[in-house]
Amino acid sequence: MSFHRRDLLVQGAATGAALLAATAVAGATPAGKQPPAPAAKGKTPPGPGKHAPAPLPFKPGALAGISEKMITSHHDKNYAGAVKNLNKVEADLAALKPDAPGYLVAGLREKELTYGNSMVLHEHYFGNLGGNGKRAGALDARLGSELGAAAWEAQVRAAALALGGGSGWVVVSLSLHDGGLRITSATNHTQALAFGAPLLVLDMYEHAYQMDYGAANGKYVDAFMTNVNWEEVNKRVEALPK
Ligand SMILES: [Fe+2]
Repeated sequence: MSFHRRDLLVQGAATGAALLAATAVAGATPAGKQPPAPAAKGKTPPGPGKHAPAPLPFKPGALAGISEKMITSHHDKNYAGAVKNLNKVEADLAALKPDAPGYLVAGLREKELTYGNSMVLHEHYFGNLGGNGKRAGALDARLGSELGAAAWEAQVRAAALALGGGSGWVVVSLSLHDGGLRITSATNHTQALAFGAPLLVLDMYEHAYQMDYGAANGKYVDAFMTNVNWEEVNKRVEALPK
């Protein structure tokens, strides 16, 4: 797959400069194409304070090496909590008076981005679990040709382990700026590749693994790789504009 920044601009895709551009990508999808999976809900964006948590796209007891108890807690408490907090922040922003002090506006905007990115990243994370981990398809081919078939996974694992004991995300994204693949790590929800579309998302917050693995985050990364749903990941790639 190849496409160019110019093409994206022509298609009106230059509407965002953050990871949340995944949603913008949907807006740039040519007629007749399926939008990216996370936006494939096919719904009109909810109004302020109206976000609803998405259900787990697999049976919570179906994962290998990631317990039902942990994935349920992760989904129902951490992810759903972020959605709930996003709704509250958006409601507070909508209620701000014109003379609201700058520190209040800035604080709410920061939290809006924090909870909004957390919602999006968690939906991508849960969405790319529930498979058999057998690499195949468009992204695997591109990762192999651009980063090396063995090297890319080693780089993802290295980035994940480097976050061990802390918290953050490791994301394989497509840069909509230059069309290249990127492996990024972030220590909080707001650190994101500008104008990037997340394709494979790994949650390295302790709430994602400590219940099952304690400090053995490497075993969690092994389990994550075993459960990657490559069919879903490839849908995200194929849904992007060519
Ligand atoms: Fe999480």
